[in-house]
Parts: sequence; structure tokens; C-alpha cells
Amino acid sequence: MDSLTVLRSAFAPVPGYLDAATCGLPARATVDAMRGALDTWQAGKADLAVYDEAVRASRAAFARLVGVDPSWVATGSQTSALVGLVASSVPDGAEVLVVDGDFASVVFPFLVHADRGVTVRQVPLESLADEVRASTHTVAFSLVQSRDGRIADVDAIRTAAAATGAVTVCDVTQAAGWLPVDATLFDVTVCASYKWLSAPRGTAFLTVRPELLDRLRPTSAGWYAGEEIWSSVYGPHMALATDARRLDVSPAWLCWVGAVPALELVATRWASPTPSVPGSGWRPAGARSWPCPTTRPVPDEPSSRPAAPGRPAAAAASGSRSTSGTTPTTWHAP
Ligand SMILES: Cc1ncc(COP(=O)(O)O)c(C=O)c1O
Repeated sequence: MDSLTVLRSAFAPVPGYLDAATCGLPARATVDAMRGALDTWQAGKADLAVYDEAVRASRAAFARLVGVDPSWVATGSQTSALVGLVASSVPDGAEVLVVDGDFASVVFPFLVHADRGVTVRQVPLESLADEVRASTHTVAFSLVQSRDGRIADVDAIRTAAAATGAVTVCDVTQAAGWLPVDATLFDVTVCASYKWLSAPRGTAFLTVRPELLDRLRPTSAGWYAGEEIWSSVYGPHMALATDARRLDVSPAWLCWVGAVPALELVATRWASPTPSVPGSGWRPAGARSWPCPTTRPVPDEPSSRPAAPGRPAAAAASGSRSTSGTTPTTWHAP
């Protein structure tokens, strides 16, 4: 069985379900895992080591999905909180370049720093790369706009940012799971995993290039950010993890139990068979559409495939509702 067939068969068909990213359907394994965890909890047998393992396995699967080492990956709960962490690390007076109309969780966390002189310049997605100036500290954008499915021109944005030294922060929430995502292309990525990754809401990730880690203030550091988690439960001595785990927040336990099978399913669909080596030029295999949880067969014809970042957006950028069930719908319904 090919990996798409495996992935498709992991979901219970829901005839008439709109295959939109506002809220992904859970895989059967996610529902089973969460039901099992609820029963265990109710029986007074919750084992915190099991929850820790769920976070570890989720981190590893996400790392595989986006082509980085797990040490690049921090776990969180929402995009806005993770972007907030990045925004807190932007220096006073910095200019942040964002996309006009981008999702609020990518923009508001920067806007709230106006009192310390952080300015947020909003420009159309199409001119984002051209608008990067020497004064631009950070460029923050969604890889795919949830409003209408437009895909950012990653190559142009990266080139412009590299020319001025601007930090790139890419929200891959609306992309990961149906579009190949290579997190090594960006300084920082953030991802809420309840959309195309079909994990429970309340699970999210941040990736950061190791050389930039020191520039991110762990504003939400708690016991789970400690190098030795279970030796970090009381202060004041603080020894944070040396890798991106120092940015972790303590997990919403049951959500992570459900996230493991979801992320492993999608990672298996997308990632290379061997663990990727950051910087090795590894890319996920060709872009394909997300399985449509309907009873209709989902053909995998090339014309319906979304474009990879940096390539022409083609069919996927339309954001329109698919009648064949092959093109992911990418708008956001509240
Ligand atoms: C591009 C994008 N990022 C993130 C999110 C989710 O944000 P948060 O995790 O802050 O609720 C959404 C939700 O629609 C989105 O469209």
C-alpha cells in the first residue's frame, strides 16, 4: 500500500464533510488514543511518563515532517503564543514587516510591542520580498494565507532577507500536511497542528535555527523548559535545556497523546525514509493533496497538486472549494 493510501485509510469517512483546514478531522488512532487516555485518567492511573513520551514522539514526528533535527523544535499550544515569544525577542525600535491581511496570530504579537518602539509595516503579500529594507529586523508571514490560500514566494523572501540580514519567521500552520514544508529555509517557523496535521487543538510547534536560539527569550519558561524536566519543578535554580526545548511550555497532556498518531501518520506520508540532516538539501517528496475524508475516491493527478514553496502557486493558490476533493481548501472559516 502506498503512503497516501495508508493515510487515507486512517480516517473514518465523513460524507459531506468540507475538507477545509479550519478544523481537521481526527484520525481513528487519535480518537482511540485520547479515549484510552481519558479512561486511564478516570481510573486514577494516569502516568505522567506516558505524557512525556507523547511530547517526545510528537516532537520527533514534526521534526521529520519539516526536515529538521528534533533539537530545533519547541512545543507549545498556540501560534500566537509562539509568535509572542519571538516578538518579545525583537529589540526596541525594530521594524517588523508583515503581510497585509495575514492571520492575526502572526501580526498582533508584534503590534502589542508598539510602546517600546517596535513598528509593524504591513504590505501586500506579492510585494513582501521587495519591501524588505536595511531597516527591517524581522519578516513574519504565513507560508499559505488562510484567508485565500495564496502561497508566499519563499525564494524571493529568503533572498531579500539574506541580503539585509533580516530574520525570517514563517507560520506554516496552513501549509504543513498538504504542502511540503522545509523548516530549514527559515530562521523560525511556527505551526499550530490542528489543521492539516489533524492533531488536537492545543498542540503547536516552533522551529529555530540553532544559531538563533540564543536570540529568543524563553518568556514562558517553566519546569518543562528545564534540561532535566523532573528536576526543574521548583525554583529558584534554573537550568534550561540547551536546545529548542528551552522554549517549551508544559504540555496539555491529553492533546499530546492524540497528537502522536496524527503527526506520525502525516510525517510518514511526507518525510524521507531516513532522518533528515539539516542543511543537507533534503526536501520532502513531491507535493500531493491531503486525503479527502469523503466516500469519493481521491485521484492523485498531477494537475491537482499544490506547488512547493518558491514555485508557482498554480492550482493550490486559488483557495477555492474543490469539487473533485483533490485540491485542499485553504480559506479560514471562523
Ligand atoms: C495562518 C494561521 N496561523 C495560525 C492559526 C491559528 O492560530 P492560533 O494557534 O494562535 O489560534 C490560524 C488559524 O486559522 C491560521 O490561519
